[in-house]
Amino acid sequence: MGKAAAVFLKDPEAAWIPAKLNNSNGKTADVEIPIYPDEQSTVCDGGKSASKWVEAEVDLSDYNKGVLPMQNVDESGNALCFADMVELPFLHEAAILYNLKQRHLDDHPYTRTGDIIIAVNPFQWFTHIYTEKIRAQYANTLVWEDHEGDARKLVDPHVYEVSSLCYKGLAFGGGDQSILVSGESGAGKTETVKIAMNHIASVQRGKTEASDEKFSDPVVDRVLESNPLLEAFGNAKTRRNDNSSRFGKYTQLQFDQGEKSSFVDKSKMKCKLAGSKCDVYLLEKNRVTTHDPMERTYHVFYQVIAADEASKKEIWSEGLSGKTNEDFQYVGTSPCEKIEGMTDAEHYQNTVKVLKGIGVDGDDLMTLLRAISIVLQLGNLSFMKDPADDDRSVVKDKTEFGKLAKLMGVTEQDLIDCLTERTMKTRNESYKVPLNADVARDTADAFGKEIYSKTFLWLVRAINDATCAENNYEGGGKSGFGIIGLLDIFGFESFVRNRFEQLCINYCNEKLQAKFTEDIFRSVQEEYEFEGIPLDEIKYDDNTDVLDLIEGKAGLNAMLNEECVRPKGTDQAFVQKALAANKKSPCLIVSKMNRKEFGIHHYAGKVMYDSDGFVSSNQDSLPSDLIDCALKSTNEILSKHLNNEKCSNLAEAAAPAPSKKGPSRAKSNLVSATVWTKYKSQLLKLMTMLKKTNSRYIRCIKPNTFKKPSIMQHVSTIEQLRCAGVVAAVTLSRSAFPNRLENKTVRFKFSSMWDRGAYPTKATAEMKAEEKLKCDCEALLASALKPREEIEDGKAVKAFVCGKTRSYFRMGALEFLEANRTKEMGSQSLHIQRYIRGWLIRRLTQMAETKRRKGIAKIQKWYKDVSAKIKQNEEDKKAGLEKKKKQEMERKAREKAEAKAKAAREAREAKEKKEREERERREKEEQEELERKEREAFEKRKKKEKEAKEKFEKDKEKKIKKFKKGIKEQEKELDKKEKKWERELESLEAEAVKAEEERDAVLEEIAKEEAKIASIPTLSDKEKKKLTDSTEIIAYLRKENKKLRNSTTQLRKDFDTMQENNKRLLEANAYAGASFEALNEQSKNNNRNNSKLMQNLEKYKKQNSKLNEDLRMRQGYYDAEAEIRVNYQKAMAEIMEMIQDQCDDAQLTEDILVLALECESEAKSELEAAEARQK
Ligand SMILES: Nc1ncnc2c1ncn2[C@@H]1O[C@H](COP(=O)(O)OP(=O)(O)OP(=O)(O)O)[C@@H](O)[C@H]1O
Ligand SMILES: [Mg+2]
Repeated sequence: MGKAAAVFLKDPEAAWIPAKLNNSNGKTADVEIPIYPDEQSTVCDGGKSASKWVEAEVDLSDYNKGVLPMQNVDESGNALCFADMVELPFLHEAAILYNLKQRHLDDHPYTRTGDIIIAVNPFQWFTHIYTEKIRAQYANTLVWEDHEGDARKLVDPHVYEVSSLCYKGLAFGGGDQSILVSGESGAGKTETVKIAMNHIASVQRGKTEASDEKFSDPVVDRVLESNPLLEAFGNAKTRRNDNSSRFGKYTQLQFDQGEKSSFVDKSKMKCKLAGSKCDVYLLEKNRVTTHDPMERTYHVFYQVIAADEASKKEIWSEGLSGKTNEDFQYVGTSPCEKIEGMTDAEHYQNTVKVLKGIGVDGDDLMTLLRAISIVLQLGNLSFMKDPADDDRSVVKDKTEFGKLAKLMGVTEQDLIDCLTERTMKTRNESYKVPLNADVARDTADAFGKEIYSKTFLWLVRAINDATCAENNYEGGGKSGFGIIGLLDIFGFESFVRNRFEQLCINYCNEKLQAKFTEDIFRSVQEEYEFEGIPLDEIKYDDNTDVLDLIEGKAGLNAMLNEECVRPKGTDQAFVQKALAANKKSPCLIVSKMNRKEFGIHHYAGKVMYDSDGFVSSNQDSLPSDLIDCALKSTNEILSKHLNNEKCSNLAEAAAPAPSKKGPSRAKSNLVSATVWTKYKSQLLKLMTMLKKTNSRYIRCIKPNTFKKPSIMQHVSTIEQLRCAGVVAAVTLSRSAFPNRLENKTVRFKFSSMWDRGAYPTKATAEMKAEEKLKCDCEALLASALKPREEIEDGKAVKAFVCGKTRSYFRMGALEFLEANRTKEMGSQSLHIQRYIRGWLIRRLTQMAETKRRKGIAKIQKWYKDVSAKIKQNEEDKKAGLEKKKKQEMERKAREKAEAKAKAAREAREAKEKKEREERERREKEEQEELERKEREAFEKRKKKEKEAKEKFEKDKEKKIKKFKKGIKEQEKELDKKEKKWERELESLEAEAVKAEEERDAVLEEIAKEEAKIASIPTLSDKEKKKLTDSTEIIAYLRKENKKLRNSTTQLRKDFDTMQENNKRLLEANAYAGASFEALNEQSKNNNRNNSKLMQNLEKYKKQNSKLNEDLRMRQGYYDAEAEIRVNYQKAMAEIMEMIQDQCDDAQLTEDILVLALECESEAKSELEAAEARQK
């Protein structure tokens, strides 16, 4: 059995799964299916990473022409992955899915299918593929350098490839260009457009070095910086995308192409970006008034509310200051804190900055932000039933109306009137109809939506005014710029409930699909022409049926418009009329369950529409009362731009102001034209513009709904590929021949199936190699694909066509070849084995025979060699004997001579030896003697050193002992001295105390004497002088006594210090005995202490001698005092004598006498004591 073919099977969950085809009978096939853990890990690897295999039988009628699509795998079953899917041998839906998945997992976001780039959103930034270097690389390779063949083959698929080719097309005379980007919400359209725009801006700089240097140009910057503004006013958070564009956008980059000529000099290329302008489509108005709680309304509302208080005060102090999202009905709590990594407050700052950059500053800025505030406040108005009349409404909270009226610059009554009444006009009169509370509320919402959508258009015009080349390039006034247009538009939509908006969006996608098909057809046409294949082979479905159904004369658009102009037009009536008028349309689906429902078979699939609200949505015209109120507003966006249908704000601003007679009715088609009509004309304009350009396509794919990297959900990806028209494009390009192979591959792979005899080649010797190859392939394939030939209209239709370089195969033909090849290889392998085995045996036998012959020849040669050798040996022997004899003689003679020489030599050697030995012995003895002496000297020295060391140690010990002893003696001595000093001090203190006592007694006596003297009536001058002297002496004595007491106290202190030192010394000495090292150290300390002690001793000695000196002096004083006392006594005796002689008072005389005697005896004793002390 041959090798099984690798195929894909349909699967309800994973769309397509890989399998192994074992057998097929044309109706059913036996397959083996590898089972992978999950969809994510399902890959084409021949089942290597599968957890198990299951066998199954599949019904081939479920597959196109009963053929299972083949996998693109190598010999070992591993997927072949191509950057350009055109190179996939088998190109079909499953092959596209698995190729894209493999590249997505390998971090390659872009893949090519011919001219279309498929951009799979990676949901992670691969910064390395967007550097300045990479930009320059693509620009240089695809624009500025010349390469042979298709230069795209030199680079990986990229958005930069598309932008480079567009610029090249425009600059080198290829006319205006466009890039059409499509995909579902969140697929990456807006990011892709920004990436392309940025690249185009850098390509136009010309050939640059591939560096990472950033480039800046005022025109380019202004063009690129307008993007955030459109995002702030036109983007909102949705469940599918946090920064979802809720409008379609066609941006035209305008280029100054200089002088156009047929000759293009790349080095002098002048195709410079001059400006840009954009058109916008279908802003989602409903989002202004209502949104899902998990979504948000437009970013700008949150930004204004999050602005700093100063700005809010300036915009609208009464209504914005201190307010939060929750204060506004249209806004409410935001389900997220940041958008694109920035808070709303940060975004506000940026929005204002960019607005100022495009000239929206000062009053204009306030006008814009106040218009936003007016919309915000319209949501806060509330109405209630008029108590007097149910059909009327009254205002619930007048303050909210008051605030809004002030902000708009209209009267409160004007505002209330326009929201609660409606003016009805007949041919002859006009009258007012009251509105109930619900209708009044709806009217406020309608007003809010209209103001917002017109404010958005005002902003777009402001951006265009600031960026368009006509106004801004080289002073303005120029025209005729080259265009590269970038279309970022909503992709095909199909929800559970599809409304009017979905029909508009899908209609736009049908229009674009028609252009896409045309363009793809054109490229296939070019390829077929190159290969020389007849064009009538291409068959494809276009979508003209659907377009007819929508925009035809009796189509849905016409029917709806008709219903809208009818006074009582209804949604159901519209559906029924449309169904009746388009009964024959193959793409219209009639709903049997719901009369308001209908369906369309779009190119991307079937969609059922619920027509509820179609008529009102299509009318969408503002009541004239609201327009009149807006025209009265002081806000210019409301009064001048609500009806501005022009492309510029400047033109409208210059228009005359409304007449003083009062607001006039709006003349625009706002009232008359339906939404659909306006939209259709917008699309028509777009398509006309696009048709003038050379379009390139980028199809964005959202690989998963989780917005996570490296995950690809099969079913949703396949659906998007269908919606994006990728499958249709592939189907178209391969409609006649789905598979293709290079001619050289065909000959290499399938030549075994070529019956050359029956199908000879038409190649001739004159032909070129390429032509010869083509002829070979034609013959080969005619032979191999004969069974696949079909008869159509009586004619045989071959299953292949051979082109110049490639062979093209009809459905199933290549699969047939591959299957046959594997089968053939299987059955031929047996033949090959048989041949090989036979060949092997023959070869072995041959080898054995050769071996035998070689052996015999070897033996014969050996015998010859041996006989020759024997003969030679005998001759050699004979010659050898004679030679030996001669040699023997020579040897003997030589030996004799040698013996003689040897004896002489031996004698000489013996003599020399003896002499040498004698010399050596002598030298040895001398050496030994020397060594001995050295040893002795050494011993001696060592001994001496030892003795000296011992002596030193002994001396040291002795000294230490002596020192210790000395210390002890010193301690004893100190002890003794201390005791002695203590004793002396005690006696001194005692003496001092005693002297003090004596002095006190003397002083007392003197005081008494003084008193007595004082009591004596008169004293002689001499006596008085003596008395004064003795008083001075006493005072002096007192002073001295005090001094003595101080010095005694000092002595005591010094003694205490000395005692303390002594104590410390004793402690140190005690510690000194602990160890020798410690003793040594301690002795040093002791020495230090001793010297200190000695110093102290000296000090004390000095103090002592001073004390002694003092004592001696004091003794002197005592003596002098005693002497004075004696003299005094003597004077007293003389006084007594005088008193006795002269005093008449006997009693006084007696008393004085007694006193004098007492004094005398006292003085005597004192004198004696002093004498004793002196002794
Ligand atoms: N090339 C890319 N590399 C990395 N991330 C990307 C890329 N393209 C898109 N994304 C991510 O996907 C998100 C959605 O992209 P984008 O807003 O461009 O989608 P969209 O197709 O414009 O959606 P909508 O129709 O809702 O506006 C981006 O915010 C970004 O996070
Ligand atoms: Mg977008």
